[in-house]
Amino acid sequence: MPLSFSTAFSATSLILHLLTHCVSSLDNGLANTPPMGWLAWERFRCNTDCVNDPHNCISERLFKQMADLVVSDGYQDVGYTYVNVDDCWLAHERDAYGRLQPDYERFPSGMKALGDYIHSLGLKFGIYEDYGNFTCAGYPGILGHLETDADTFASWDVDYVKLDGCYSLPTEMDKGYPEFGYHLNKTGRPMIYACSWPVYQTYSGMTPNYTSIINSCNLWRNFDDIQDSWQSIASVIDYYGDNQDTIIANAGPGHWNDPDMLIIGNFGLSYEQSKTHMAMWAIFAAPLLMSVDLRTLKPDYKAILQNRKIIAVNQDQLGIQGRRIYKQKGIEIWARPIMPVFKGKYSYGIVFLNRRTDGTPSEVSVTLKELGLDHIEGYHIQDLYDDYDYGIVTPDRRFKVDVNPSGSVVMIRCNLYKGKPINNFIEATRDAQPRKDESGYVVDHGNIGYIPNADGAHPLGGRFPSRPVEPQSRSHGYLQHHQLQYSPSTTPTSVAAPAIGAYEQADHGFSFQQLGAHSTVPPYYHG
Ligand code: GAL
Repeated sequence: MPLSFSTAFSATSLILHLLTHCVSSLDNGLANTPPMGWLAWERFRCNTDCVNDPHNCISERLFKQMADLVVSDGYQDVGYTYVNVDDCWLAHERDAYGRLQPDYERFPSGMKALGDYIHSLGLKFGIYEDYGNFTCAGYPGILGHLETDADTFASWDVDYVKLDGCYSLPTEMDKGYPEFGYHLNKTGRPMIYACSWPVYQTYSGMTPNYTSIINSCNLWRNFDDIQDSWQSIASVIDYYGDNQDTIIANAGPGHWNDPDMLIIGNFGLSYEQSKTHMAMWAIFAAPLLMSVDLRTLKPDYKAILQNRKIIAVNQDQLGIQGRRIYKQKGIEIWARPIMPVFKGKYSYGIVFLNRRTDGTPSEVSVTLKELGLDHIEGYHIQDLYDDYDYGIVTPDRRFKVDVNPSGSVVMIRCNLYKGKPINNFIEATRDAQPRKDESGYVVDHGNIGYIPNADGAHPLGGRFPSRPVEPQSRSHGYLQHHQLQYSPSTTPTSVAAPAIGAYEQADHGFSFQQLGAHSTVPPYYHG
């Protein structure tokens, strides 16, 4: 049973349980690909001071301006559709009939009119509430008013409801979130249902029941609120990698993991890190909800948000979330199976991510076969940021990418090639010779070092013979660290850290997520 109840439940709760269990199952036909749009929270927060800051306060003016720009600046053309209100739109009191109402000082035309305006532009209208006594910012929550509030949203022609979980009991959520979903369904108006159910449960020590969550919600937050920093993005990336075996299987058309909104174009990320944010959210099959001031967004960042090739990976019809397949010494490789599919094999979006901080690009040298891509006719490889086409590359051909440091990526798309065999045409600069010692993906050019899997197995899970650990010594000062990392008798903390970047110092004990140790290799890496 997906719902957990205490043993002593009343007849009423049994009926409610049966009711919600039987009819709450989400069948709204929405979010077959991850939703795309604009969301106020991360950039504009709970600024309600329209007297002193009319330009930036949470008001109908702000949402109308953003909706206008979504259309006029071309975001709608590439798929951004929803304009979503977050917290702090509400009045502190319900109206005389117990219905939610906006703060009319800031939303003088009311929410129905705001929705109408957004719809008149061909966009969709999202709103925020909370399964609790209050929203996180202290406005009225829905507890005690579930049916009324669902009806109110439907009467305003809302298309998307984000239901937060402050001021409520995580133990109640297994009942409460499906119950509100039931009321949303009952209105007859299809509304995307975005939940915060698992994140509150996880933080209270519970194990979320994803079977039930998938059946009730179109998307769900499972980790921290995003903040305006690389540290925040990096922590999300780590969470999605470290927990991939639990969360990936839950994603699919109509139901998505939500790593939170996009902060591209704000203050905290470098240009390269912004590209990484977009690329990783495509790998994650994540909703793309821009939280940025579209009035002042610089062209470089707009181009990242409007990168059609990366959006196409994000919106891939198969809806399979990608996973981390390699993590070692600050280099990560992520792969997402995408269309086209042929004879049981997938195409892939691949991200090479460099989190090292030693200031120079790292060369990553791979064959597609090493990444698990073994379609014999090969793959058509395109770079998704640089306008570069690698042509058709067969699985054994070694090629290289140079990945900038400090949270930068190279992202490629590998489309299965179905034609008759042809020669590879990789330019000399992208070509890599097989290494005599066959020592792995990441080539030492003085900044990486020889990087075997920490446990001696291949990162894809024992499909290749393990290799002996033979550190190279090209980089001055690096060998010491390297030995320190792999010598079983060395206790890292007892040795002075070598003079290298902070990231490397922190990575004692890196492993490949024990991919090799898992009994099940992800299905799409079987040959
Ligand atoms: C948080 C939520 C944020 C934002 C905020 C509003 O709990 O995760 O995305 O909605 O509440 O108060």
